[in-house]
Amino acid sequence: MNFPIRPRRNRRTPAIRSLVRETTLSASDFILPVFIHEDAEDTPISSMPGVTRWSLPGLVKEVGEAVALGVHAVVLFPKIEESLKTPHAEEAYNDDGLVPRAIEALKQAYPSLCVITDVALDPYNSDGHDGVVARDGLGEIHILNDETVEILVAQALCHARAGADIVSPSDMMDGRVAAIRSALDDSGFEHVSILSYTAKYASAYYGPFRGALDSAPKDGDKKTYQMDPGNAREAIRELQLDEAEGADMVMVKPAGPYLDIISTLRGSTTLPVAAYQVSGEYLMIKSACAAGWLDEKAVVLESLTGIKRAGADLILTYFAKQAAEWLR
Ligand code: PBG
Repeated sequence: MNFPIRPRRNRRTPAIRSLVRETTLSASDFILPVFIHEDAEDTPISSMPGVTRWSLPGLVKEVGEAVALGVHAVVLFPKIEESLKTPHAEEAYNDDGLVPRAIEALKQAYPSLCVITDVALDPYNSDGHDGVVARDGLGEIHILNDETVEILVAQALCHARAGADIVSPSDMMDGRVAAIRSALDDSGFEHVSILSYTAKYASAYYGPFRGALDSAPKDGDKKTYQMDPGNAREAIRELQLDEAEGADMVMVKPAGPYLDIISTLRGSTTLPVAAYQVSGEYLMIKSACAAGWLDEKAVVLESLTGIKRAGADLILTYFAKQAAEWLR
């Protein structure tokens, strides 16, 4: 060739850049995680500046704003009163509990909204673990897998009865997707989807979330059920199991530090892949921007674009409303 190749021609004007852009964000990519409690007040969450724990009327108003901005899906996280927490998390499947009432309120206000629920025991059990805790003779704790799965099934059915569109097991117990799928099908909820937390890592980035719900483990950590941050092949193994067990969508969590895992799952399945930009990722961006060190709008949109470019079809993010507004 006797002329220089000039990639910059495709970057010359905003119009050309928008023609050749490979990845674009849209409000419909986002799922808004929302925190709820029994109180009549809406309370700012001190561990997550800019995020609020809502009363039910506050929730309905907040979600209405999200819907108006084009965000059509929310996932509910309840803060449960200490007095309702028990070793076997019975409150997790109380049909008059906070989550079923929140689902009903949202469905009544916005019939076409996609309501997603978190299936795990940590907000409900007195040990702060995603499963049932047993202690051995040495006082070491063990998370009982199959006993937990039975409770998760009851919890998923309770959410389905209240009108959830998608149940989302975040507990990482073995075999829970198959157990939930067959129980839903046997009970006339074959239309309810399962969004599985397929590759959920034992991450330090969940700290602010546990503060928001007062759900940190009282003893030990979550490393016997959540994945080791060093493992990538194991994510494919979890994916194969979730596919075989009937998951409709699969998730990687956290998102930013695990972009390679998102990309691997995207290349290994035809199912939709979701990614969760978790509380610690939110907080890192928020605090750097509050200090004036980073430009919030630019950094948020870039972080979400990176997650989508890596292969996420859906993104759970606390920035959902703000990003949707910026994208308008
Ligand atoms: C627990 C659950 C966690 C998150 C979502 N579901 C915390 C944990 O596993 O300890 C974290 C979300 C976030 O950090 O934003 N079932």
